[in-house]
Amino acid sequence: MILKAAASAPGKVILTGEHFVVYGEPALVMAINRYVEVNVEERKDNAIYISSSLGVSGTFVGDRFRPVRGGTLASNILKPIKIAAEAVMNSLGERRGLNIKVSSTIPVASGLGSSGASAVSTVAAVVKLFEANLTEESIVNLSTEAERYVHINPSGIDQSISTYGGVLSFKKGKDISHLRVRSTIPIVIGNTCIERNTGKLVDNVRVRMERFPNVLKPLISAAGRLTVQAVDVLRRGDLDMLGLLMDIDHAFLSAIGVSSDALDRLVHAARRGGALGAKLTGAGGGGCIVALSRLDDREAVAKQISEAGGTPIIAEKVDQGVHSWKVK
Ligand code: PMV
Repeated sequence: MILKAAASAPGKVILTGEHFVVYGEPALVMAINRYVEVNVEERKDNAIYISSSLGVSGTFVGDRFRPVRGGTLASNILKPIKIAAEAVMNSLGERRGLNIKVSSTIPVASGLGSSGASAVSTVAAVVKLFEANLTEESIVNLSTEAERYVHINPSGIDQSISTYGGVLSFKKGKDISHLRVRSTIPIVIGNTCIERNTGKLVDNVRVRMERFPNVLKPLISAAGRLTVQAVDVLRRGDLDMLGLLMDIDHAFLSAIGVSSDALDRLVHAARRGGALGAKLTGAGGGGCIVALSRLDDREAVAKQISEAGGTPIIAEKVDQGVHSWKVK
């Protein structure tokens, strides 16, 4: 065991297929250059102290939580980190106290994968601390235990993209396929800055599916076919077609009830700015949209998003997933 370790994992945008992925359909997801970094060190006692750049911190002793900053609500934010760290220790047959520091440049609760990247980088940092070697697949599985605290039926898409990086065609419980994309994939994200709860939105979709199964089941399969086609056009570097498919996907997501006024406003603004296509990304309800753009049009798209009241983020694809290192 070493004294200190750290890991960093990227956030993501889902280009097509969120929500439908929970029902076994494929989704297309891309890692972006926004990161969560986690630092860990051993403690002399058995407690797990966690501090986050979100301004919350506290100590878990067994299942009891003692807040330091952020009151008892801090427990909800920090608990998935504890679950991820303990999942690693359980799998290695270890039990130690830890100090964990989480710093993020990914806006929280916005659909850009901050909780997935936090769980993945926690798992990787704790694995490094114990000088263990785990496969990428095990990192995904252990970090998905933390996501189960966030909602009971996670597809694992966020953990997978934060672990592997690049662009993935992802299907729950199936082999992941890495896409080699020759073209750049210029995107502009628009943040409504309205925080939302992934678990609640996934549950609202379940209720709607149960109420209108005959209407919505075919929509789920259509969304799956949309992603298959999106993967195909992206492999060929046909961004115009990908943009059109993203527009259709936004309409599908509206049909299952996860868009909102603010998201629709930003989607329309991005299209006005010359985007090839735009849609909400992640669970919806608030959070972000992703617009596909030509390289030279990104500023114009960002300007329209900003004029419509959103916060634009020009982000880049990153090919590296999680990585960890020893801290001196
Ligand atoms: O947590 P978010 O907003 O990135 O959403 C994840 C994607 C969902 O399909 C809505 C949920 C899941 O587990 O796949």
